[in-house]
Parts: sequence; C-alpha cells; structure tokens
Amino acid sequence: MGRPIAAKITGVASYLPPRVMTNADLEKIVDTNDEWIRTRTGIRERRIVDKGVATSHLATEAAKRVLAQTNTSAEEIDLIVVATVTPDMMFPATACLVQDRIGATHAWGFDVSAACCGFVYALTVAAQFVGAGSHRKALAIGADVMTSILDYEDRATCVLFGDGAGAALVEPATSPAEGIIDFHHDIDGSGGKYLYMPGGGSLHPSSHETVDKRMHYVHQEGSQVFKYAVRRMAQLACGMLERNGFSNNDLALVVPHQANLRIIRAMQERLGVEDSKVMVNIDRYGNTTGGTIPLGLVDAVEQGRLHKGDLVMLVSVGAGYTSGGILLRWAY
Ligand code: UT7
Repeated sequence: MGRPIAAKITGVASYLPPRVMTNADLEKIVDTNDEWIRTRTGIRERRIVDKGVATSHLATEAAKRVLAQTNTSAEEIDLIVVATVTPDMMFPATACLVQDRIGATHAWGFDVSAACCGFVYALTVAAQFVGAGSHRKALAIGADVMTSILDYEDRATCVLFGDGAGAALVEPATSPAEGIIDFHHDIDGSGGKYLYMPGGGSLHPSSHETVDKRMHYVHQEGSQVFKYAVRRMAQLACGMLERNGFSNNDLALVVPHQANLRIIRAMQERLGVEDSKVMVNIDRYGNTTGGTIPLGLVDAVEQGRLHKGDLVMLVSVGAGYTSGGILLRWAY
C-alpha cells in the first residue's frame, strides 16, 4: 500500500545563474573533450555562478518567482525547507537566509542534507506538515552551487555538475485526485564512501592540510555510484507503480534526477516508458544536485508536458546513498 499525503504542489519556479559554461570552455581548463562529456553523460553545458553568488541567492530568487506565480505573499508562508549540500556556510541554515530575504515573517524552517535526493526529501517533509493540517503554505526548495566544491583539476567530477535552484509551493489537497499518492525513500550509508566531501566538517576541520590535500571538493567513484543509481532508480520507479496498482502506461511523466543521461535511459528501459514520458534537461544544466527535479518540473510545465490530473513520478539517487521516489497527481 502507498503512503498518501493530503498535500499538492501548486506552483514551481526556478532560478539559474545566467553565465553558461560549455564543454568547450571546460576543454580549456582540464584534460577533457566535448565528445567524451556528451557521450558519457549527456551534458552539453551547465550554468555557473559569478563570484559572491551563493546558494541562498539562487534559492531566494526561485522562491520569489514561485510566490509571484501563485499570487502568494511571503507572510503567508509558514514553513521553508531547503535541500542543499552547498549551504552558504555551515550555519545558520540556508532556510533562515531565504526566510529573511523574502520576508516570510511567519515561517519556520530548516535545511535538509540528502544530496541529490534533497528535493524529494524536502518536498516530502513539507507535504507531511501541510497534509497533517498544521501548515497551510510551505516552500520546498532544492538549491546548490556545486561549482563551490568542484575540483577543476579532477576531470572525472568537474564536468558533471552545475549551479541552480528550484522551488515548489505546497498547499493542502482536498481530494486524492490532486495530492501525493505515495513516496518511498531509503538510505544506505554503506555507499557513503563512494561520493563525499571529506573536509570542513567535525572529522576534518578546515586547515592548511585539508586545503593542501584537496579535501574541500567532491570526491566520487563514478562507476560505483552509476551502478547503484541505475538499479535503485529502476527498483523505486517500478516498485511504487506496482504497489499502487498502476502500470507504466498510466504514467504521464517521469522526472528523474539528472546525473547522467545513461542512468536515466537505463532506468527508463527497465520501467518501459518512451522518451516523451521522461523529462531530460541534463544537456543544458548538468547535475545541479538539489536543483535537478524542480528544474525538470519547471521545464515540463513550460513545455506543456504537465496537465491537471497527470500521474507523475519523481525519482532520485544520490550521495549517502540516499534514494527516493514520489508518485503524485499533478494539481494544476
Ligand atoms: O548525482 C549524484 C550521483 N552521481 C552520479 O550518479 C554519477 C554516476 N557516475 C557517472 O555518471 C559515471 O560513472 C561518470 C560520468 C562519472 C564516469 O563515466 P564512466 O563511464 O563510469 O567512466 P570511467 O570513470 O570508468 O572512466 C572511463 C575513462 C577513464 O579513462 P581510462 O582509465 O579508461 O583511460 C577516465 O580517465 O574516461 C576517462 N575520463 C575522462 N575522459 C575525458 C574520466 N573523466 C573524463 C573526462 N574527459 N571528463
């Protein structure tokens, strides 16, 4: 049986920094080439922030846009959940910075650290509070400035990521035809060693040594993460359909995490759905970690691929390992 939540998404918006970094730009700074990046990952270009622009700035812009789009005033927001692995600083939480900048004077909030599953976890948390009736208007935000933790001497990671943010407004659902039908999340900490950033935490506080050893950057064993991601994303997607009595034909759109086009296509093949039902924008944005799924939803709305009542699947795997999927009815 599924785990329905009486909450719905009533708006999505994104913010991407305007500066584009193409594969050709990367060729100039690291030993790589456009052909490798395109064929191994599907990425053509990504957005990058200018110096001084942080995760909270992207998150704030996305939040302001979703408020404007839904005619919601900031004072009406009662909860802000920000998913990020690149907060402006260790503390305070990015949610507090966003709350202050947008003027959400009646909100509380906090950050969620779940890497590429950050947005689906943040959305679930926000929806639970709204579904329980204690909150009326919550913001779930996924935002990351991945370029702040990329090692531009490590070609195996620096080509993969980009910067971006997306925000969803979550409000009560009045009928099962417009809410969250099910979610299925799990974590497997045994995979933590394959994707992590070792420096700057309580185990390895920042020091000259941590900087010299390049410990403040993303470290990844790509092939391990790849295999896990393909297997878990397919299991989650198929499992959630099955336990809710749906078939792949019932799906209008799958919005998967955008880490690698080959992971997406492998998941899609196991799920048995055609390209038109799978959101792909990794070619333009790369992997924006917490940002990918809301960016996918925004593009899907803009491309006219989401309609009221559509059955939609969000699915992701990320560092941790974290895994997560949400099955919902699109509400507008
Ligand atoms: O969102 C969080 C979760 N993250 C992911 O899901 C990422 C999962 N992993 C992946 O997407 C892939 O494993 C990568 C894209 C990171 C790597 O692709 P791969 O097919 O697993 O390549 P590989 O690491 O096995 O490397 C193959 C070759 C190596 O050369 P040799 O040893 O065969 O001579 C690498 O040195 O490709 C080389 N290589 C590159 N060549 C040009 C690695 N990175 C690059 C590069 N440009 N940027």
